Amino acid sequence: MTTAPSATAFGVYVHWPFCLSKCPYCDFNSHVRHAAIDEPRFVQAFTAEIAAAAARVPGRTVSTIFFGGGTPSLMQPATVGAILDAIARHWAVAPDVEVTLEANPTSVEATRFRGYRAAGVNRVSLGVQALDDTALKELGRLHSAQEALAAVEVARTIFDRYSFDLIYARPRQTPDAWAIELKRAIAEAAEHLSLYQLTIEQETPFAVLHAAGKLVVPNEDAARALYDTTQEICTGAGLPAYEVSNHARPGAECRHNLVYWRAHEYAGVGPGAHGRLDVDGERYATATEKRPEAWLMRVESLGHGLVTDEVLTREQMADEFLLMGLRLAEGVDPARYARLAGRTLDPRRVAVLSAEGAVETTSGGRLRVTQSGFPVLDAVVADLAA
Ligand SMILES: C[S@@+](CC[C@H](N)C(=O)[O-])C[C@H]1O[C@@H](n2cnc3c(N)ncnc32)[C@H](O)[C@@H]1O
Ligand code: SF4
Repeated sequence: MTTAPSATAFGVYVHWPFCLSKCPYCDFNSHVRHAAIDEPRFVQAFTAEIAAAAARVPGRTVSTIFFGGGTPSLMQPATVGAILDAIARHWAVAPDVEVTLEANPTSVEATRFRGYRAAGVNRVSLGVQALDDTALKELGRLHSAQEALAAVEVARTIFDRYSFDLIYARPRQTPDAWAIELKRAIAEAAEHLSLYQLTIEQETPFAVLHAAGKLVVPNEDAARALYDTTQEICTGAGLPAYEVSNHARPGAECRHNLVYWRAHEYAGVGPGAHGRLDVDGERYATATEKRPEAWLMRVESLGHGLVTDEVLTREQMADEFLLMGLRLAEGVDPARYARLAGRTLDPRRVAVLSAEGAVETTSGGRLRVTQSGFPVLDAVVADLAA
């Protein structure tokens, strides 16, 4: 059983925007600073943003908290603890709250794991990326495979729940080599793995190399073969995909990410964080200033770092619901779509996509993308939303 949908899920996303170095493939909002970060100043600003969000959506019970980045494992445990305390001062926190922190798997960061647990973190997500030192070097990572596995080992002894990320469809990667690496990863993974196909993001060093023909990634067919290998091995090992790139033992899904994919409500705090808040019957899409120092100054003068705060139209909410929900193996509830959109999904389009084998309707009446539809998910969503 997948973690059951909850009508009352409310998440808090906390963005820590700093990294020790910038990986050449990454376009997340992450910045390298050579001077020490003034963490108490950041705590004050996070606390102000949490208070501002809570004033707009009071009375919620926080079911999940996610420290993402950047590299949150560069934060002092006391900083994490202070942010968790601020959340608990402004909202009720569910007794079984899931508190995840993204960590880079270096030995230095692993030494802080016990402190994070004492602060209230109960799940870590480690950016292992590859179990092959040549690939790690090419990805610009600062850790070796052995160091990453040692960090996974530390995580295993300290946290009941942990996950790690791998990037596949890397240059020259064959399905056979990936199968060996993935099986090794599964042997180390307890309950959850995130497996991302390498994406060439615009304006990254990888995009420049790619455009110059100096970085060749698997073509569509080769990437499809790697995807098929991924599904086969993970399903066989009891870690089926519950989302396009996320695999878990049933019941061990990341509840925070489910908040996004099930279109529930969440507050986003910190530089470049996004949120979705339900106020007076309207859904607001929020986003904060991305540059860390500009965010600090904005929060210090205005009490929040918002640069976007817009009411979503029915159409936008309905499109977002499909875009996020169809990423999930459980699919979407067509009745919820109809309530959001004010119209039902076009039965002719559903019929055509079903006949093509891209979507199916479950016995419970949910619409979901099939295994063969997932590689063309964007096209399926565009078709249904049109
Ligand atoms: C915010 S980052 C992870 C946190 C941490 N800083 C780290 O790198 O270990 C989230 C994940 O996105 C994935 N990712 C980032 N850029 C990617 C890209 N261009 N293609 C595929 N996966 C990517 C990586 O697996 C990474 O662990
Ligand atoms: S992949 Fe992680 S460590 Fe690398 S730049 Fe992006 S956020 Fe930072």
